Amino acid sequence: MAFPDTFLDELFARTDMVELVSRYVPLKRQGSDYKGLCPFHGEKTPSFSVSPDKQLFYCFGCGAGGGALQFVMRAENLDFADAVHFLADRAGLPVPEENADRDARRRRDAVYRLNRAAARYFHETLLSPAGEAGRAYCRARGLSQGAVTRFGLGYAPDSWDGLIRTMTEAGFEKADLLEAGLVVRNKTGGLYDRFRGRLIFPIVDLRRQVVGFGGRVLDGSAPKYLNSPDTPVFAKNRHLFALNTAKNTKQGRLILAEGYMDVISLHQAGFDCAVASLGTALTDAQALLLARYTKEVVLAYDMDNAGQSAARRAIEMLGRSGVSVKVLRLRDAKDPDEFLRRYGREALAALLAGSETQTEYRLSTLAARFDLTNDEGRLGFCREAAALLASLPGAAERDVYTRRAAEMCRVSFEALTADVKRERARQARRADRELARRASRPDRTIQPRAREMRYENPRSASAEEEVVRMLFHDPSLLEEAAGLVTADDFSVPLLGRVFTILCERYREGRASYALDGDLTPDEMSHFARLASRPASSAYGARALRDCAAVIGEESALRRAEPAGKDPLLVLQKAKYESQIS
Ligand code: UTP
Ligand code: MN
Repeated sequence: MAFPDTFLDELFARTDMVELVSRYVPLKRQGSDYKGLCPFHGEKTPSFSVSPDKQLFYCFGCGAGGGALQFVMRAENLDFADAVHFLADRAGLPVPEENADRDARRRRDAVYRLNRAAARYFHETLLSPAGEAGRAYCRARGLSQGAVTRFGLGYAPDSWDGLIRTMTEAGFEKADLLEAGLVVRNKTGGLYDRFRGRLIFPIVDLRRQVVGFGGRVLDGSAPKYLNSPDTPVFAKNRHLFALNTAKNTKQGRLILAEGYMDVISLHQAGFDCAVASLGTALTDAQALLLARYTKEVVLAYDMDNAGQSAARRAIEMLGRSGVSVKVLRLRDAKDPDEFLRRYGREALAALLAGSETQTEYRLSTLAARFDLTNDEGRLGFCREAAALLASLPGAAERDVYTRRAAEMCRVSFEALTADVKRERARQARRADRELARRASRPDRTIQPRAREMRYENPRSASAEEEVVRMLFHDPSLLEEAAGLVTADDFSVPLLGRVFTILCERYREGRASYALDGDLTPDEMSHFARLASRPASSAYGARALRDCAAVIGEESALRRAEPAGKDPLLVLQKAKYESQIS
């Protein structure tokens, strides 16, 4: 029943806990989580929560918890393998069979080879007489020959079978062309080229394989851009255009833009750190990918409303993966490409140097919502600014931006500071109440489904829980964590294993940190419980070092004085092991 990791990753990526659970019980958003009545025990007040970020559910009433698989196992009463099939059906994902790994690899390789050949065909066509329209378009958009070569741009002639003919003559199968998404089947079963009369942008992954294509019309027709569909080698929401070259930049950050043309213009102007998500809102997988290659992302989204609200979402998402975010405000241009065409690279470099931190950005978008010329507007701004400023973790940071906000709405620094203090106290009280509320709902008041795990070394164990929780929240800390502790230092074997699994995933660059496939339902339940508690500190690295120090100390003590000598401890250990195995 071993399912390949790649398949399980894909399955979890395509499964949304909130959507899944909503099929069984109505959920209501509450903060960053969703709440509802637990489907697994009778209750009148909701104690069941689903975290969309962590893709976990947990019931504070009966202790049921876990990921998508555990949910389906319980809700549909299925075993693990059947639950996998159940979710795969919903996701429209074929379940790999025997030898499937080898088979899948063969199919993927065929698609890679075909994509490469197709990219070459498009590129050669662009440079040939048949590509004159494409070349004219490149000239009109100011694309240099160098950029055309560097990005391997191409042209798909305006014909129904230009690619099909060339590729089948070169020995490729029609089935492969279909699988690669390069051709489309019409109603009568005939095949035709997907990309026709378009400028072609090959999408290249980090291993320099061509995974898909984007194609832009040369006139005003629609759709303006056409992308490869998802194929065995391509999922649009997991790739970032040009990351294959931008990852080598020496510029110390990445610029995230919206479109192909923006990225190419930026590279052409010397900003070789530009990447783009392919026309979709930034996904968690993409945020993780960015976090692996940089500590700072500058958002260069379009200045229209859609672009700016996408920027706000991206800020949140990137913040969660531990990347610092700045925002580029383009003046008098709708996107970076247009800005560069109009004002040139020096102007962009200047803008980049002064790009706003996310707090500045949030303050200035807040200011734009209020009329600061009248009292009512200024008070409204103060109220919301105080809430924003109160949530900043650092005292110096709060001071700097409180000063800035006070200037923006022309109130005294002292007055706004007092508001911020009050707001901080209020936020702290709210957090305390929330913790107390959770703590006062012990599992035993209702049927004790979840078994509290008995920890042999509570001091170490709570540090271990915290570490695991932080890493699950913020995988970008894994690199540092791996240098501070090893799984052997953990006193709780389950937590040590989770630590090892997270480290492995991180090293392998896997986008999914779902643990469903690796833990038993009971372990998953325990893990979901601890992951559902808030991590103690927004500033991970610091807390991580503190916890690692505790784990290291305790581990050293244990080594000096083996637990096996104390009969009581041995007893507890045996109990504990029988509980989780
Ligand atoms: P934009 O409409 O902002 O395009 O879409 P752009 O990059 O400024 O393009 P030009 O300058 O008009 O050539 C941004 C991105 O959204 C995706 C593409 O990836 C595009 O680069 N998109 C847009 C699509 O996938 N399909 C579309 O029809 C439009
Ligand atoms: Mn544009």
